[in-house]
Amino acid sequence: MTDTLTPVLTDNWDADRSWTLDSYQAHGGYDALRIALGMDQDDVITAVKDSGLRGRGGAGFPTGMKWGFIPQDNPKPKYLVVNADESEPGTCKDIPLMMASPHTLVEGVIISAYAIRANHAFIYVRGEVLHVIRRLQRAVQEAYLAGHLGRNIHGSGYDLELVVHAGAGAYICGEETALLDSLEGRRGQPRLRPPFPAVAGLYAAPTVINNVESIASVPAIINNGAEWFAGLGTEKSKGFVIYSLSGHVTRPGQYEAPLGITLRELIDLAGGIREGHELKFWTPGGSSTPLLTDEHLDVPLDYEAVGAAGSMLGTRALQIFDDTTCVVRAVLRWTEFYKHESCGKCTPCREGTWWLVQTLARLERGEGTEADLELLLDQCDNILGRAFCALGDGATSPITSSIQYFRDEYIAHFEHGGCPFDHAASTLFAPAGAHA
Ligand SMILES: Cc1cc2nc3c(=O)[nH]c(=O)nc-3n(C[C@H](O)[C@H](O)[C@H](O)COP(=O)(O)O)c2cc1C
Ligand code: SF4
Repeated sequence: MTDTLTPVLTDNWDADRSWTLDSYQAHGGYDALRIALGMDQDDVITAVKDSGLRGRGGAGFPTGMKWGFIPQDNPKPKYLVVNADESEPGTCKDIPLMMASPHTLVEGVIISAYAIRANHAFIYVRGEVLHVIRRLQRAVQEAYLAGHLGRNIHGSGYDLELVVHAGAGAYICGEETALLDSLEGRRGQPRLRPPFPAVAGLYAAPTVINNVESIASVPAIINNGAEWFAGLGTEKSKGFVIYSLSGHVTRPGQYEAPLGITLRELIDLAGGIREGHELKFWTPGGSSTPLLTDEHLDVPLDYEAVGAAGSMLGTRALQIFDDTTCVVRAVLRWTEFYKHESCGKCTPCREGTWWLVQTLARLERGEGTEADLELLLDQCDNILGRAFCALGDGATSPITSSIQYFRDEYIAHFEHGGCPFDHAASTLFAPAGAHA
């Protein structure tokens, strides 16, 4: 089974002091930078376009195309901003990457900034992860001392300043335009688009914003070629990605594999669902992506197939829940998170997420009725597509999908007059029609 894995980004993670410059360079680190600096900038953009790399931050937008939107005739400075906010519940790939191999990201930043002709780049990291910030800062310092950053990098005439910026710990600051406001020193709230960041982003200048994993994939593309990368994965979802398995599996962790692997294969690699239990539901890409169930174990994990199954690939944060989990309770916890993190800018999300928690909590306590279930769906309907940004839409995903697959379990709560699960023993009380 293990030959299913394709360690590229994670290849050096078990090396001795893998986060240091010496270790990274001993594994071929910064070779791609030398190759890229010998290339024309547009050829670097073409290589990334031809590789088929799509953004790893959730939406899957083609990275090379995004870089191509930067208007090079605009006299303003160009900026590269790396989105390292990683706050989606379940998402835990960027932080391990930055801890284990920060230079993979730093090298990717230099090549990407060179390609779009940016002389300033920023890595925006969520503020709570001080250990990651320190590790990145040290890596950036090492890169400056080695001449990989700063003025006239390796005699190429290219200059780049790289700043590691700590956010203040808000989920909304992962939304790219809220991130830009926060980076400019304002309260982080999403901006109206257009203009898109490629035209008027940071300080109203052309800006590329990419996820950590997107940018960290660039050195491997330059080293091995666009064709090599495009040869992995599926027809429209190229390359390899980090799948983060968490929850009720025997060996949770990061599994790097080509796009298109199935959850069944990944769970096998992770030693199976914990002993004595069965898969009940899972998220393909964090809590904002609709839940799937054991019916979907063989869905290829790429953008198209997961979309066709009614969900989204998102950040490949595969949160696995077994038969001991009360889905209503899990969804309530996520909904409380969205209510807490709503930035307050628009009414459907600010007010709506508050009401979702009220209705769901009532149902979870067993005090609801069938009418409350309809009310909950109606509240979701009034948020989805009406909120200013995707946080509001995402808040409805776990609710609507859990009702789609586990309506009986919601009903069991009010029929039973409380949660039918015995949480202490982690077993199901077994209401009629529910999963016993
Ligand atoms: C509420 C919210 C939170 C987000 N959080 C992140 C995040 O932490 N990291 C990230 O890369 N993208 C996040 N995104 C997506 C970004 O807006 C953007 O699509 C992404 O950074 C683009 O990079 P990519 O093209 O490399 O995927 C978030 C979006 C929303 C709506
Ligand atoms: S949807 Fe929520 S997070 Fe997004 S702008 Fe509206 S209030 Fe803010």
